[in-house]
Amino acid sequence: MKITRHLASDASGFARAGDLLRAGGLVAFPTETVYGLGADATDGLAVAGIYAAKGRPSFNPLIVHVAALEQALTLADFNADALRLAKAFWPGPLTIVVPRRADCPVSELALAGLDSIALRIPSAPEALALLKAAGKPIAAPSANRSGRVSPTTPDHVLEDLDGLIDAVVMGPSAEVGVESTIVSCLVHPPVMLRPGGLAREAIEAELGCRLADPGASDDDQAAPLAPGMLLSHYAPRAKVRLNVHTIEEGEAVLLFGSVSMPGLARSVATLNLSPSGDLAEAAAALFGALRTLDASGASSIAVAPVPSHGLGEAINDRLHRAAAPRN
Ligand code: TXA
Ligand code: MG
Repeated sequence: MKITRHLASDASGFARAGDLLRAGGLVAFPTETVYGLGADATDGLAVAGIYAAKGRPSFNPLIVHVAALEQALTLADFNADALRLAKAFWPGPLTIVVPRRADCPVSELALAGLDSIALRIPSAPEALALLKAAGKPIAAPSANRSGRVSPTTPDHVLEDLDGLIDAVVMGPSAEVGVESTIVSCLVHPPVMLRPGGLAREAIEAELGCRLADPGASDDDQAAPLAPGMLLSHYAPRAKVRLNVHTIEEGEAVLLFGSVSMPGLARSVATLNLSPSGDLAEAAAALFGALRTLDASGASSIAVAPVPSHGLGEAINDRLHRAAAPRN
């Protein structure tokens, strides 16, 4: 067991986090999407520590976070699509997959042996401050045990990883609340590998073309384009039932918008992602709500329908994975 330090979300905390990262440590930190578990991406041993702390299958490559576009350009080759997306949406909740440069110093382990690299500049000021303090590309998956619900607060991180990592930056709740959208620019038109915090509509408007779909990437059996997109993911302990219109005895309930539902009075716990029907508010509340309802002890969480446009695509993707049969 390690002692997991709680670092203040201020200049001295970011400086300490930078020191720990440069020394090969594991530091969880806020981004606008979810909390990340960071390590120096160029240090194979430090990256190995991420896989160990998360209990993550090692074939799953990591997103590499940088503070500026110039830094990203030293790691990978950006074609016109990639450059266009980076200029329009960075810093922000978009990860871009591009060919890595031959001299890219990121460890093979972080890339899981691929010739491509997934890059992101986060917009949360705390994340940018930490990346600048570290002065290195930082590999960071979501700061949860593998397969569990992603963390949107420092407390969520500590629930999963206390004693397993060196430090947590005690920052604010993640503003977006679902992971970044991942777009591969290895082909044209680019492919959306994972819906996330940046809506498909915004990306397609910027590119002036439709994004292609990854096809079989949703399937556990196929070799997915985003290798980490296993179907069962974001799994609470409780079973998850989707698109319900009636509540069963003893269920916890997750609502969206102003719905009324037969059997609601029977629920052991009820939360509404957004009573006004705002998808951005719902995305920000999603993972915390799943954790809270899971903690109610209900054996099943019943989820009302959520529209699938805008951030609804990412919300439905995460709910679908939370409801998938466990492996
Ligand atoms: O919002 C986010 O993206 C958060 C924060 C911390 O930045 N990070 C995150 O990382 O969600 P993670 O490790 O949970 O998800 C990374 C995803 C996986 O599905 C992985 O397979 C995919 O990115 N990925 C990484 N490198 C890739 C590559 N070269 N080609 C295709 N997919 C890649
Ligand atoms: Mg994750």
